[in-house]
Amino acid sequence: MSAVEYAVENEVAVLTVAYPPVNALSLAVRTGLAEGLARALADSGVKAVVVIGGGSTFIAGADISEFGTPNSAAEPRLQTLQAQFEASPKPIVAAIHGTALGGGLELALTAHARVAVASAKVGLPEVKLGLLPGAGGTIRLPRLTGVEVALEAVTTGRHLGAVEAERLGVIDAIVDDLRAGSVAYALKLATDGAPAPVRDRNDKVSGVDPKVFDDFRAKNRKKWRGQIAPARIVDVIEAATNRSFDEAKAYENQAFGELMASDQRKALIHYFFAEREARKIPDVPAEVKPLPVRKVVVIGSGLMGGGIAMSFANAGIAVKLLDVNAEALERGMAAVRKTYETSLSRGSISQAQMDERLGRIQPIGGYDDLGDVDMAIEAVFEDMALKQEIFALLDKATPPHAILGTNTSSLDIDQIASATSRPDKVIGAHFFSPANVMKLLEAVRGSQTSAETIATVMALGKQIGKAPVLAGNCDGFIGNRMLQYYTVNAEYMLERGATPEQIDRVAEAFGMAMGPLAMRDLAGMAQAVNVRAVRKKTLPVDERMPELVERMVEAGRIGQRSGSGFYRYEGRDRLPDPEAIAIITAEAQRQGIEQRTFTDEEILARLFHPLVNEGAKELEEGIAIRASDIDVAWVNGYGFPIHTGGPMFWGEQIGLDKVLETARVLGAENGQTRWGPSKLLERLVAEGKGWKDAPALIAQGL
Ligand code: 3HC
Repeated sequence: MSAVEYAVENEVAVLTVAYPPVNALSLAVRTGLAEGLARALADSGVKAVVVIGGGSTFIAGADISEFGTPNSAAEPRLQTLQAQFEASPKPIVAAIHGTALGGGLELALTAHARVAVASAKVGLPEVKLGLLPGAGGTIRLPRLTGVEVALEAVTTGRHLGAVEAERLGVIDAIVDDLRAGSVAYALKLATDGAPAPVRDRNDKVSGVDPKVFDDFRAKNRKKWRGQIAPARIVDVIEAATNRSFDEAKAYENQAFGELMASDQRKALIHYFFAEREARKIPDVPAEVKPLPVRKVVVIGSGLMGGGIAMSFANAGIAVKLLDVNAEALERGMAAVRKTYETSLSRGSISQAQMDERLGRIQPIGGYDDLGDVDMAIEAVFEDMALKQEIFALLDKATPPHAILGTNTSSLDIDQIASATSRPDKVIGAHFFSPANVMKLLEAVRGSQTSAETIATVMALGKQIGKAPVLAGNCDGFIGNRMLQYYTVNAEYMLERGATPEQIDRVAEAFGMAMGPLAMRDLAGMAQAVNVRAVRKKTLPVDERMPELVERMVEAGRIGQRSGSGFYRYEGRDRLPDPEAIAIITAEAQRQGIEQRTFTDEEILARLFHPLVNEGAKELEEGIAIRASDIDVAWVNGYGFPIHTGGPMFWGEQIGLDKVLETARVLGAENGQTRWGPSKLLERLVAEGKGWKDAPALIAQGL
């Protein structure tokens, strides 16, 4: 069967792209469209053409899985097809529902008009793949929207809703019945005459002040730190204003080629597939259907509980926010309202959206009214006895089909489940703060969690816009288990003579939003002292916990809020502080540690290699299913720069042998039990293999 179906309706040829799941522009689709167009042009009974998507969407872009294969360069290439569209003597209308993204929108921009349903979205999201629109998007979009809108839309890759897109000139009409409306629109163009192709509409790209581009670059420099594609996008959009169409196109082709060859493109495409792969669980086959979740109860109305409730409300799911403490509940609801008001004042939601979302959150003071919930998520503080008490109550108060989730970040899921009569329905649902913003949802399976429960939480995670990752049940699960190596290691380096500024500068240049020591100051140190006191009790005998945080707290430097910590603060400005350095030096002397200088390269290795080593141990132990799941967790939960592909992908790119070397050094320095090399890593390096080979090696036994 052809990837494009041909039909004639009312003297209009309708080309329906039928290439699930997202009608990507594979060779089969491009061929089908070229053949369909040729047939329509040859058919004297046809006056116009409509291109429409079959299934749930228009065309979601180039076929990413085809990149680098001979098919991607085979004719008809997208640009050949676009030239045929623009040269067509019969008007072509792109009929858009679902999404028209990347090459899909670029193809639509070569049609004579674009008609959409109100729920459709359009966008050029190539930047998220480390690319720029390579089929004229950077040249045609500004011809419709003007330069400023195009700069913002293409550098963020944001999806524009149809209503906004119509206002901006990208979409010509919004209709209720897409097929009939588009056919009618196409016929009208055939009768009244079609507008000039977008490529010939020059008014919005003529006489643009070059300062617009310089200002945009300056404004976003910090945000784009470490990424190549956004700045190249600005260059090519600028070229669209000061070169002829063909020259600008040649420049776009050249820049697209450069980005296609870049490591960042590889990393970001790795990440794209990683996020989708993470939702597939080997022992939860596709036949296991997720349960529908229509109503949720969140227990605990603190910052976390409120954020979780908003995540559901924002996605259209009704939530009860339960707190037995009336004052806390009131405070929690006030905080939720305030968050929405801030979004409203920033223009990111409308008053109607705010009212709708708030209306979905019902505050309740007890467990009497939970007969209608499909899922509960407990988000109270980390106390096993309290959690068990709550789970016993939930077990009685919720219907038998309801799933019971815990937002614990470290406690044993099985122990929590043991307080219920339905351990198969108990699962970790670990959100990251602020939960309404952060994308990671770490689902944690206990020993009895059922396949259906897992399938439900993974599907629900996607439904509420999160990136769900499944973890095994261990201290810290996937993400936090690795985090301690990063933060503690920063302190080991301080003891040995590196400065907070140097460490944070290296981390931030790498792409972390904030270095580990600035982060520690922001989070405040008092809490860290408590966490460490607990952790120290379980530390292996060959390991010593650094005590810099303790020394800072003793000196009254508890972080940004107190005006000092590893830095001193003037307002929000962090400044190097000789007093902090003096405390660090004194502590190093007390511990008998000789101080030295570090190169930036060494700091980078010591900060990030241990993450990869620990990730490998998680694979060995079955805590993470695949290396790429760890990438998804760290990108979304900890701000690991997405353009590196995540820690595991990055580790493989720079060489697992280097990671192993660092693990050997740190094992010798800090204690082999926890810091020494992972067996899996040793095997992979010895055999010259990579993460894809890990499952087979683990199955054989390391
Ligand atoms: N190529 C190949 N496969 C794609 C694809 C694409 N462009 N877009 C999505 N898919 C696949 C996914 O891998 C997934 O496969 P799986 O079921 O085997 O895991 C399946 O389609 C469904 O995707 P999602 O799970 O993401 O489904 P959603 O409904 O949540 O989202 C979507 C749909 C909004 C279209 C989202 O998939 C998306 O954003 N896709 C990427 C769009 C994109 O980046 N387009 C630009 C491509 S580059 C380009 O066009 C270059 C041009 O300028 C020359």
